[in-house]
Amino acid sequence: MGTDLGMDAIAVEDLTDDQARVELQRLAAEIAHHDALYHGKDQPEITDADYDALKRRNDAIEAQFPQLVRTDSPSQRVGAAPVGIFAQVVHARPMLSLDNAFSDEDVQDFVGSVYRFLGQLPDGSIAFTAEPKIDGLSMSLRYENRRLVTAATRGDGTTGENVTANIRTIQEIPETLPADAPDVVEVRGEVYMAKSDFLALNAQMEAEGKQAYVNPRNTASGSLRQLDAKVTASRKLRFFAYAWGEMSVMPADTQSGMTEVFRRWGFPVNPMTRRLGSVEEILGHYREIGLERADLDYDIDGVVYKVDRLDLQARLGFRSRSPRWATAHKFPAEQAFTTVEAIDIQVGRTGALTPVARLTPVTVGGVVVTNATLHNADYIEGIGNAGQRIREDGHDIRIGDTVIVQRAGDVIPQVLDVLIEKRPDGLAKYNFPTQCPVCGSHAVREKNEKTGKLDSVTRCTGGFVCRAQAVEHIKHFVSRNAFDIEGLGTKQVDFFFESDDPALMIRTAPDIFTLKERQERSITKLENIDGFGRVSVRKLFDAIDARREIALNRFIFALGIRHVGETTAKLLARSYGSYQDFAMAMEASAPKFGDAWNELNAIEGIGEVVAASIVEFFKEPRNLEVVQRLLAEVRPLDAEAPVASDSPVAGKTVVFTGSLERFTRDEAKARAEGLGAKVAGSVSKKTDYVVAGPGAGSKLDKARELGVSVMTEDEWLELIGG
Ligand code: IVH
Repeated sequence: MGTDLGMDAIAVEDLTDDQARVELQRLAAEIAHHDALYHGKDQPEITDADYDALKRRNDAIEAQFPQLVRTDSPSQRVGAAPVGIFAQVVHARPMLSLDNAFSDEDVQDFVGSVYRFLGQLPDGSIAFTAEPKIDGLSMSLRYENRRLVTAATRGDGTTGENVTANIRTIQEIPETLPADAPDVVEVRGEVYMAKSDFLALNAQMEAEGKQAYVNPRNTASGSLRQLDAKVTASRKLRFFAYAWGEMSVMPADTQSGMTEVFRRWGFPVNPMTRRLGSVEEILGHYREIGLERADLDYDIDGVVYKVDRLDLQARLGFRSRSPRWATAHKFPAEQAFTTVEAIDIQVGRTGALTPVARLTPVTVGGVVVTNATLHNADYIEGIGNAGQRIREDGHDIRIGDTVIVQRAGDVIPQVLDVLIEKRPDGLAKYNFPTQCPVCGSHAVREKNEKTGKLDSVTRCTGGFVCRAQAVEHIKHFVSRNAFDIEGLGTKQVDFFFESDDPALMIRTAPDIFTLKERQERSITKLENIDGFGRVSVRKLFDAIDARREIALNRFIFALGIRHVGETTAKLLARSYGSYQDFAMAMEASAPKFGDAWNELNAIEGIGEVVAASIVEFFKEPRNLEVVQRLLAEVRPLDAEAPVASDSPVAGKTVVFTGSLERFTRDEAKARAEGLGAKVAGSVSKKTDYVVAGPGAGSKLDKARELGVSVMTEDEWLELIGG
């Protein structure tokens, strides 16, 4: 089974709900298949880069369609679950993964985000370590009273496999630690096989007429998971220490200090590790390591950057699966030449027209590529997002061109460059359509109000007139995390949408709720139509009626406002409490200034683009008309703030004002929200606490006026337990 590129050519943001659902199902199955091969038999069928790309596409689709996340999704696990031959070990601290950076800009963003989170100017004062990312297996080595007691693989991040007996055969890993080491020590790092040892082993396998191994990493993994430790001993495995788990006493207060201690204790640490300040220095070291890569005796697939100071690491903390204080800068992916046979246009749910290059099939990094996204009209023209020329000389892409395709950060292959010397005479320039290929409406590029520049996306202006958009909207409306109407699946929505019978057709969401009544007055009975029986019709009407009262967040999510996913809908529901308050606030926000607009923008997690999109939605009379018809049929229930923890601030609403001295706004908000509190941007009767720093002004006055409890930063810290 190779990597099935089925829907890969479709940009994630242009997948319909149904396509996304199918794609997530396919990805879950395919990734599970590769996991099993990889962990079970150590004979993978695809390259690591391909595997990573599958996972990234899964993540990207889930970010876009959070309502479709499957319980068996690979995102719900860090690695593969242990296969069960070895005893399981629950890690004292979880073994997490790293975020990836693929470009210099990504690295700049990472460094910038560290400074921003910590509330500092990006002045180069924060030191980072930069070290090769070893392509091996992560291992956690636990020492109690200075003796190695357990060695465990990462497993799913929480539970790994006990491979202690095999690890003891690795000479580079000390069995005991010096007398000054703390009582409990967990050293973490990478077990790997040197390229030279791998080649020698394969030569031996060949001489013995046995099948050769695929790559050093899988061989290392297979060697470690031998039940007979003698086999492991015969394969030379090695180790680099770079991280730690539980420590009864911290022997250093920096990342570099910790690795230095590990070195003193007898662990190998990578000699190319540097402590650096500026982004330029970091990128310089990345390039240096890139140049050395081929000459190293072990495989690396990137460079890992970590904030050096451990107190800063602690403040930065973790996202769900990876630390905010580290990132892995990956080396670029593989490329190949091929020709563009055609350019097709796909229309997505939001009306975006996405051009896709149909390519003469070519193998890139072991996978056959037949499609590549061309993103938008500018990209075909040779113009980047910032208006700059892209590709070598900014050449445009034409049907018939020879191009370089690359598979990198995403599974969707990209056209990297045009080989202009291979362009046949007389090739016509590609004309991007000015009409929607589905409904024929004008397709336009909106102007960005702020910059005055044209948006890069060409959009069909048909709205609900465009059948592609209208039907996709209904599918979204009835989907699991929106109205969740059982019995109204893709097939049924298509059927009702296509119908011309007034007693059957569903062209907009409110029509769903008038279906039963229209049926009762009509002679065309649904139960007589193929595919619908008496029972299923009754069940369908019951399912529809059951949703006449609905949680506010689901209602908002179901509206299908651009940029408003499930999370944003929840934020809005929690912030405004009732549909009436929400709608009134959106109406009051229409001029995009004033209190209502400021309050919307102050909601943590809602930026200006999202805010503007919501306000625009409520300005459009056609949307208001649909919402009004909907409200005649269904009642959104008021939202309650959930209490998420047993902290005294859980469920409370807090406003931070004035300049904070102990932490940045972002950090304060993240901490408060982590404890289950809601952070608001303005003071009202609903506010429980106002935390005021120096220079607090009108919000403090308002709090006093309303009798809201006001505290200093220190008092707040005491309340939340430091
Ligand atoms: S730090 C909390 N440093 O990459 C983060 N990881 O993609 C701990 N890896 O699971 C990881 N070289 O197996 C770190 N120098 C290095 C690494 C490294 C390889 C692996 C490790 C980790 C994976 C994350």
